[in-house]
Order: sequence, then structure tokens, then C-alpha cells
Amino acid sequence: MSRIRVAVVSFMALVFAAMSHAADPAPTGGPGWTGITNPEDVIAARQELMEHAELLMEPIDTITVEEVKNTDQLRTNAEAIAAMLAALPHLFPPTTNLFDPQAQEPKTLALPAIWQNFDSFYKLAAAASSAAEAMSETHGKQQLRAASLRLRASCEACHTLFLRPYKAPEVQKSDYEFDFESVLGEK
Ligand code: HEC
Repeated sequence: MSRIRVAVVSFMALVFAAMSHAADPAPTGGPGWTGITNPEDVIAARQELMEHAELLMEPIDTITVEEVKNTDQLRTNAEAIAAMLAALPHLFPPTTNLFDPQAQEPKTLALPAIWQNFDSFYKLAAAASSAAEAMSETHGKQQLRAASLRLRASCEACHTLFLRPYKAPEVQKSDYEFDFESVLGEK
């Protein structure tokens, strides 16, 4: 090979290497790539994590309308929430982008926008985790109340963009054509 051809070939090799990197090849699924082997378990894990964050938030939300008490408990809850929110964004491998807008009960409520704006999603998770961490280090009733509002706002900031908005079940035609009389045995 001439020296020029060697140079051209190695340049092309570099271009291809760069391209294949840009195409973001998926890992092939060795042990531990649970997003590939068990995507539905990953979805179930993040939903469970969110539901328990909600349970821990209950006493924290309460202090915005009631007197602040059990301040140690409030701080402990906030600390647990901070750890949960630090883990949260790692439970969204692209294989779990499975939202189905047609489904009555979609298996995930996580919107595809997450993977189109993963940077924002990741930053919102970190911001929410910091808000929880900050509350866990807060003393004073007024200060705790303010910290609890910031924490709740940080949950909502992510949900507004990336969680399917709540939709009341639609009334089906069969619902209002339902024959009550025949069921109740009336003539
Ligand atoms: C960075 C984004 C983000 C943050 C921050 C966040 N969530 Fe979520 N949350 C989600 C997504 C995405 C889902 C949908 C998960 C799915 O269905 O796969 C969700 C779902 C939920 C659900 C519904 C779970 C279910 O399966 O029905 C609850 C409840 C919830 N979150 C509570 C919270 C609370 C409380 C906080 C704050 C302490 C919080 N979330 C912070 C993104 C977030």
C-alpha cells in the first residue's frame, strides 16, 4: 500500500469509529444489564420507589397545613427520600421507554420525553435529591415548613414534564346505555 492509501484507510477507520460511537451501540446483555434482560422489573422497581417516596412525604406534606411536630421523624424521612431520589434516574435505561398512550393501564407512566431530554431529567432528579438532603439538615419549624414546600415542588417539577398527566377514565357509551332496570329486576 502506498503511504497515501495507508493514511486514507486509517482516516476512514477513525471516521467509522467516531460514527459507531455516535450511534450509541446498545450493550449486548451480559450479566447485570437488567435493563435488557428484565425491563419490566426495572419499571416495577422505580414505581415501587416512587410510591414509597410518596408515603414518606405524607407527614412532610402535612406540616404545610398543620402544626410542625415530630421534627426528628421529618428529617429522617427527608434523608431517606434523598437517597431514593439519588437512585431514581438510574432506573431509566432506554429499554424501559415503553409508554403506550392507548393503553387503559399503561405499564409505565414515564413519558418518552425523558429519553429525548435525559440531561434535564437527570438534573431534576439531582435537584430533588438535594432539596430532600437540605430538608434533612433543617431545624426550626418555619424553616422545616419552607424546606418541605421546596421538596414537594421539586417532585412536581419533574412530574410536570415527564409523568403522564392524570386522566380520569373516559365514560364509555356502554356506561350510559347500561340497562339498570333489567339488573334491578324492575319492569
Ligand atoms: C426526576 C424526575 C422525578 C422526580 C424528581 C420525582 N419523580 Fe415521581 N415519578 C417520576 C416518573 C418518571 C414516574 C413514572 C414511573 C413509571 O411509571 O415508570 C413517577 C411516578 C411517581 C408516582 C406514581 C407511581 C405509580 O406507579 O403510580 C408517585 C406517587 C411519585 N412519582 C411520587 C414522587 C414523589 C413524592 C417525589 C418527590 C419526593 C417524586 N415522585 C419525585 C419522576 C420523578
